[in-house]
Amino acid sequence: MKKVKISIIAAMSENRAIGYKDKIPWHMREDMIHFKEKTTGHAIIMGRKTFESLLGYYKRSGKPLPKRINIILTRKKKLSELISLYRYNDIYFAHSLEESIEIAKKYEKKEIFIAGGAQVFKQGIKHADKLYLTILKGNFKGDAFFPDYSEFKKIDSKKESQDKNYRYTFLELER
Ligand SMILES: NC(=O)c1ccc[n+]([C@@H]2O[C@H](COP(=O)([O-])OP(=O)(O)OC[C@H]3O[C@@H](n4cnc5c(N)ncnc54)[C@H](OP(=O)(O)O)[C@@H]3O)[C@@H](O)[C@H]2O)c1
Repeated sequence: MKKVKISIIAAMSENRAIGYKDKIPWHMREDMIHFKEKTTGHAIIMGRKTFESLLGYYKRSGKPLPKRINIILTRKKKLSELISLYRYNDIYFAHSLEESIEIAKKYEKKEIFIAGGAQVFKQGIKHADKLYLTILKGNFKGDAFFPDYSEFKKIDSKKESQDKNYRYTFLELER
């Protein structure tokens, strides 16, 4: 049987900033579309802080990331309290990265996505086969950063210019 692929998807500036004050420091529609296209239909793992930051965006749809199995990492053990707090379907809570990958593998046979934030990227990068990175031109102020990924090799690069406010490149890298 084919091994399920583990991928990381992230957007960062050239100084590897991914977040500031619990938010993504830019608003890039093209990148949101790219994220949706890549991850829809797959299992997706994220840290509790990223999950909470996404809830604001997805209030209307009733789910943080619809049409995806959402696995949220937290060290808080009171699962039932968390689930009743969020009241969503297709959401699972895991207490270690390894547990989150095991849960994801139950539902996903092709590609599992690790979607941040900084703590989860730092721990998850050693498990990743592939990186989908959106690299924004310039340096941004951040308090959350993507880890070093120099051991990955670029396999694809696509320049996009539809967003008038940002210059960026979509990269795909593998080990
Ligand atoms: N640009 C991008 O692509 C991108 C993507 C995602 C997020 N972000 C940004 O990244 C920032 C958030 O990153 P962050 O590092 O502060 O938080 P995070 O990684 O989203 O979440 C951290 C939380 O995850 C849980 N956690 C982490 N490792 C765990 C483990 N091994 N076992 C169990 N639980 C674990 C803990 O939750 P508990 O505290 O509940 O125990 C921890 O506090 C925000 O600014 C966000 O906007 C950017």
